[in-house]
Amino acid sequence: MFEQLSPAAPDKILALMAEFRQDERSDKVDLGVGIYRDADGRTPVLSAVRKAEQRLYDAQDTKAYVGIAGDVGFNAAMIDLALGDALPRERVRGAQTPGGCGALRIIAELLNRARAGANVWLSDPTWPNHKPILAAAGLATRDYPYFDAATGKVKFDEMIAALSAAPAGDIVLLHGCCHNPTGANLTLDEWRALGEVLVARGLFPFIDMAYQGFGDGLIADAAGVRLLAGMVPEMAVAASCSKNFGVYRDRVGCAMLIGEDAARADLAFGQIQSVTRGAYSMPPDHGGAAVRIVLEDAALRADWQAELEGMRTRMLRLREAFAKALRQQTNSDRFDFLAEHRGMFSLLGLNDAEVARLKAEHGIYAVGGSRINVAGLPEDDLDRIAAAIVAVTSAAS
Ligand code: LMR
Repeated sequence: MFEQLSPAAPDKILALMAEFRQDERSDKVDLGVGIYRDADGRTPVLSAVRKAEQRLYDAQDTKAYVGIAGDVGFNAAMIDLALGDALPRERVRGAQTPGGCGALRIIAELLNRARAGANVWLSDPTWPNHKPILAAAGLATRDYPYFDAATGKVKFDEMIAALSAAPAGDIVLLHGCCHNPTGANLTLDEWRALGEVLVARGLFPFIDMAYQGFGDGLIADAAGVRLLAGMVPEMAVAASCSKNFGVYRDRVGCAMLIGEDAARADLAFGQIQSVTRGAYSMPPDHGGAAVRIVLEDAALRADWQAELEGMRTRMLRLREAFAKALRQQTNSDRFDFLAEHRGMFSLLGLNDAEVARLKAEHGIYAVGGSRINVAGLPEDDLDRIAAAIVAVTSAAS
């Protein structure tokens, strides 16, 4: 049987993570996979999550099944977090999923049931796992222009022009905030203008919300998504708790479905539970239960928000400091965009050969396309990193 298989292409981000682990250089720097790191380079369990887990262990008296859509309280709290009071709650349903990837995949399966082989428009560039997830669910993909490498900004007019020509019924995948990999995001006015096009063209918004709280703050990061949710008849949101709760390995996410009315929302919710049952039956409980405990308890929630704010502001400080170090070393404003971008990632604008040299000659790991994880920057070694970037870029030679 297995001899019939051809070798699978490794996932570039996860392959880089493995390669980094094997690298024996003591001064190696991991700017690859999107994992938050503190000033000591650690990814600690958040204190609110640890306390919630303790409560969970103390109170849990059964491991019996919870249900296909997971923890009802978790789903309600996640809907609150992402959508607030943007629309009547009766139009929204939530299903807990194994991570944000799980949410993306089961929503994609649901959309394929609604419209087999439908086209999903993806930002150019987008997170490298979007296409494989959508393709695995049977959906086709097209790209819309998004990032202007020369200015470090969103090509909004071109994006709107492409989507204005998209056939009705197509799906548009949008990053709710903290665009991965570019770090360049839509303004609220742009979200509004985009919403008008989506409504006018009959396009379905599918939001990937993996970094809420890592950009401009928990509420500010949800503002575009909430605005859109109030404008469009239907929408889906794949939310992840990996980053903002630091529960990466516990796989905690939520698939949210917005219907035109409660009956349509129920229809979609029934189908997504059937998708789930046919895939993994039910989501794992532990991480979702811990997140629910944090979100439902005022003190733990305050504790979590303070820690999240600490992560966010640290990334902002790193952005500023790194842009400054690069400005000094290049004697130019070429990398100033780093301070304007938001979230974990930015694209440095290096070519593949330069990215390869960063790794080989300096032990600095960035994802192909020159994406860096800002949280991985060592605060006290920014000048060395900046010097390495200057050394490998042809502009400096
Ligand atoms: C990333 O983009 O690095 C993260 O979302 C981790 C992943 O699964 O790729």
